[in-house]
Amino acid sequence: MVVCKKWILAKAFSGHPDSSNFRMETEELPDQLKEGEVLCEAIFLSVDPYMRLFPVPPGSVMMGEQVARISKSENQNFPVGTIVQSMLGWRTHTIVSDPSKLNKVPDLGDLPKSLALGAMGMPGMTAYFGFLEACCPKNGETVFVNAAAGAVGNIVGQIAKIKGCKVVGSAGSEQKCKWLKEGLGFDEVFNYKTTPLEKALKDHAPQGVDCFFDNVGGEETTNVLKHMNKCGRAAICGSISQYNKEEKDKGELPYGPMLMNMLRVKGIQGWHHVQKWPEGLKQMLLWIKEGKMKYKETVTEGFDNMVSAFIGLFSGQNIGKAIIKV
Ligand SMILES: NC(=O)c1ccc[n+]([C@@H]2O[C@H](COP(=O)([O-])OP(=O)(O)OC[C@H]3O[C@@H](n4cnc5c(N)ncnc54)[C@H](OP(=O)(O)O)[C@@H]3O)[C@@H](O)[C@H]2O)c1
Repeated sequence: MVVCKKWILAKAFSGHPDSSNFRMETEELPDQLKEGEVLCEAIFLSVDPYMRLFPVPPGSVMMGEQVARISKSENQNFPVGTIVQSMLGWRTHTIVSDPSKLNKVPDLGDLPKSLALGAMGMPGMTAYFGFLEACCPKNGETVFVNAAAGAVGNIVGQIAKIKGCKVVGSAGSEQKCKWLKEGLGFDEVFNYKTTPLEKALKDHAPQGVDCFFDNVGGEETTNVLKHMNKCGRAAICGSISQYNKEEKDKGELPYGPMLMNMLRVKGIQGWHHVQKWPEGLKQMLLWIKEGKMKYKETVTEGFDNMVSAFIGLFSGQNIGKAIIKV
């Protein structure tokens, strides 16, 4: 008999998530699969900020992506040993009756399969298509990206460097800033917890910002738009500073700087481009193999520790992609 462990949203979120929002349950799965079914055994799971923004109803299994190995199969298209990536939720084992919905993880060679949850998955493709299509970066332009040491931000900054831009990034610790500058080649970095934004942008982007990739939101968004050059482009990717706030920021509206600087501000979503992901994944893999794109993961060991990895996203515990290894 296979016993699946699963994390349930026990109580609706209110403010910062904590352990009381979750409970673990077990579920016995049948030994015999029906024709066409497969049993997926999670290897890596992902925690992402959207799980706080779009919560499942209380009492449901937390949603999320995982990389899993097919450990039993009654489907010849998905034999035992196939590695798949899918939105199976926070659970260790899942019987899937329609495996055509599973994505086979392409051969990544020596690279970790967990990349299918990061640079070679949703965060990477959000960075790739969101940045390139909304910000249209040009050689020599200045790019500012916040939450720059997170899963999406670090890739945006690296793509911007590949495109010949000057890259300014902000993050919440000296250690993260050091990695962005020395590890990834960002031109300028600042710790937003110790340096006021206005001063930081004046010091690090005195020529103004042409492209802004916004992961943080709230008042910061308007304040960056004020510092943008004429006809600049901004990609609104997320607003992690607001997800846990009962009272959202009520600062100045962004329309003044949008008008005065003639900005193009576009909301972006990684999933929107899913039909084009193969093209983006091919390019990302090539950059990784060429050494132009580096990846970093903060790996939490053990399914039982998944909740603390998730909570940690909101206090900046992760550098690069937060991954859970079962
Ligand atoms: N539109 C889309 O399709 C899409 C897809 C993926 C992600 N997103 C959004 O993109 C953003 C980044 O996601 P991600 O997956 O890269 O995140 P991540 O890897 O989970 O990293 C989140 C980082 O955000 C920073 N952070 C947390 N609270 C903050 C606050 N109050 N102010 C400033 N920074 C804060 C933390 O780093 P520090 O130590 O630097 O604070 C944390 O490590 C989120 O807003 C997310 O919702 C959108």
